[in-house]
Amino acid sequence: MEVFIEKDYEEISRKGAEIVAEEMKKKPENFVLGLATGSTPVGLYKELIRMHKEEGLDFSKVTTFNLDEYCGLAPDHEQSYHYFMDENLFNHINIDKKKVHVPDGMAEDPEAFCQEYEKMIVEAGGIDLQVLGIGGDGHIAFNEPGSSLGSRTRVKTLTQETIEDNARFFENIDNVPKYAITMGVGTIMEARICLLLANGAKKAEVLAKAVEGPITAEVTASMMQLHRQAIVIIDEEAGARLKRKDYYKHVEKMADLLKKKK
Ligand code: PGA
Repeated sequence: MEVFIEKDYEEISRKGAEIVAEEMKKKPENFVLGLATGSTPVGLYKELIRMHKEEGLDFSKVTTFNLDEYCGLAPDHEQSYHYFMDENLFNHINIDKKKVHVPDGMAEDPEAFCQEYEKMIVEAGGIDLQVLGIGGDGHIAFNEPGSSLGSRTRVKTLTQETIEDNARFFENIDNVPKYAITMGVGTIMEARICLLLANGAKKAEVLAKAVEGPITAEVTASMMQLHRQAIVIIDEEAGARLKRKDYYKHVEKMADLLKKKK
């Protein structure tokens, strides 16, 4: 796992976008990008939009798969993740909407839809890079504590903590959906690169558990420790509880030195 500790939210977003753009350029014909919602990746998406507008970063051949969607919300519902992605990224870049995939919260047969979603990911060639946030309860996507670490895309019941965390986006807490369709931990683990972002003091404790604690279904983000190429980008506040903070900074400095020597 590579851990980058940046000064602030702006720096996390910039570094995250740089990595996404670099990987996209390595596979210009058929890059598959996994996307996340929540407040954390908004800055990264803003930076990708800037790169598209000012530097010509091309999304026309990129396929995307979003991690999750609330059950019962249609794509045009303002709180749906589909709507969120349109507003925060898709409407501002040259993506082909036929290549965009967000789980269907209105699927008549959610279980069948979940299997179909898994199939679509495989048919697209698998996810090259998956953007991730981390929930206050340690979840990645909506894989709440206790989720099987081998789980696949399925319907998940949200925890009270997640419902409360997300209530800020709804008029009142009773309107927050109680279920979601989410990629499983096992699905996420198959992405070639996982890019997890976190910022703010509120995430410090759970982030330390995910990065340096035991691998456990109690904190599904801890599975990143088993991933072949997990990159964690956080700000100083979110990194405040990490034991090996100085070491991660030292590693980054040494890697920069090596790059300069080349
Ligand atoms: P946040 O949510 O980015 O709004 O903090 C993260 C998550 O729940 O995965």
